[in-house]
This record gives sequence, structure tokens and C-alpha cells, in this order.
Amino acid sequence: MIDVHSHILPNFDDGAKDEETALAMLALAFENGTGTIVATPHVMVNEWLPEWETVVAECDRLAQLATAQGTDITICPGAEVAMEYDILEKLEKPGPYCINGSRYILVELPANYIPAYADEFFFILQTRGFYPILAHPERNPELAHRPERLVEWIEKGILVQMNGTSITGKMGSRVMKFAEQLVVRRMVHCLGSDAHGLRTRRPKLTDAFEKISDLRGKAAAEAIAKQNPAKVLRGEEITIPEIAASDGGGVVSRLIRRLWKN
Ligand SMILES: [Fe+2]
Repeated sequence: MIDVHSHILPNFDDGAKDEETALAMLALAFENGTGTIVATPHVMVNEWLPEWETVVAECDRLAQLATAQGTDITICPGAEVAMEYDILEKLEKPGPYCINGSRYILVELPANYIPAYADEFFFILQTRGFYPILAHPERNPELAHRPERLVEWIEKGILVQMNGTSITGKMGSRVMKFAEQLVVRRMVHCLGSDAHGLRTRRPKLTDAFEKISDLRGKAAAEAIAKQNPAKVLRGEEITIPEIAASDGGGVVSRLIRRLWKN
């Protein structure tokens, strides 16, 4: 599997607290079937603003250390860019802060609301040639109340990355229910762990993969966890599936959830 969202780099943000933790996280990811992990440190104007070259160099350095300890995992550079108007100055053209230096850029909404300039933000990125991927929309409470906003964005070519912990219930039942709806409605395109450490948000995707398989079938899970992310890394376009009607999966989702709990 390919994990497109992780805070694996030590001393960049609130992710891996040191090198030892980062290497243990990489080993855990590899043991759990992740062959490639994208390092996506936070990029926020007033909090964390690493130079892109530093992110790339640290990925290479960490990969060498991982190989030396026997963890055969590929680490690709990326970033989790906060949806802040001022950050657009740093994003003149695709490449820097994009996943594997491609056109795909991981964008994070504020935790609890949708900024008034969200549509404009995506539009500016797209006119500059970026392919935005929205990070874990299932966690945003305003989007949960207004999923039609997400439908509009997807129809405009914005992709969706879901967190594994959201669909398995580790982020609470509200988030899990919305995540299930998104999977059932074919509104999820990539999977990420959003791993920050070894305790709560860990770099494991296996359980999420199985649950997506239960909800949508193995082929869809493979597309979300393997084939689409591989295209992201190569900068190739992804075919966005047609979104299913909003009430289409309710009963199925509830049934699967019950089976999953047993
Ligand atoms: Fe993140």
C-alpha cells in the first residue's frame, strides 16, 4: 500500500518527536503492508514553514537510515499545506510542496470550519496547474453538515484523501459515520495514516483497507490504497468515479458497521 499522508519526519512539526521514533514508525508501517510512505509535514505560514529542499533532503536521509536498519520502505517528499491565503505566495507553480514533487498537493482545511475563500483557494491552485487533494475531509464538522460542498469540489477535480483511523472508528463515531458515507458514495480517492507517532495516530492502514473492502469491494480498496496513490506519485491523472446518491449507502453502511463490530 501507499500511505500518502504522514508526519514521519522528525523535528519538522508535531509528528515524530525524534529520529528513533521516526524509524520505529517506518518499521511499523512496513510490517503493516505499507511499501511507500509520503512524508507530509505541516506547512503553515506562522507555525511551520520548512524549505522544500530541506524536506527532500530529510526524506533521503531518513530512507538511508531505514534501509540500514532493514526497513525496505520508500519515503517520498510532500507536505500538508494549510488552507491559508498567504501560503499561496509560496505556491507559484507545481513541484515544491507537492507529493513526490508532482502536481498533486495535499491541502488541509482548518479543523472546524470551511474558510470563506475555500473555493477561490482551490481555483487559484488549479489555474496554476496544481491537482489539489483535500486531506481528511471526514474530520471537518462543517463538511459533515454540508457534504454537498465536497461533492462540488470533487466535481471540479479536487481529490479526497481519507485517514485510516477515521474509517476504523479511532476518531469517534461521528467521524466514522461520515467516512463510511464518503467511501460508500465513491468520494474517497486516496488513503493515508496521518501518522504522528507510535501511540494514537500510528502508520497502519491494514484495518482501514479491510473495512473499505467490506464497504465497497476489494477492487475499490485497491484503487484507493494502491493504484490511485501510485498515479499521484507519478503525477498521472486519476479517473474520478461518479458520486453515488446521498442515501444510496445508508442501509448497507449500517449493516457493514454492525458486521465490523462483531
Ligand atoms: Fe496531517
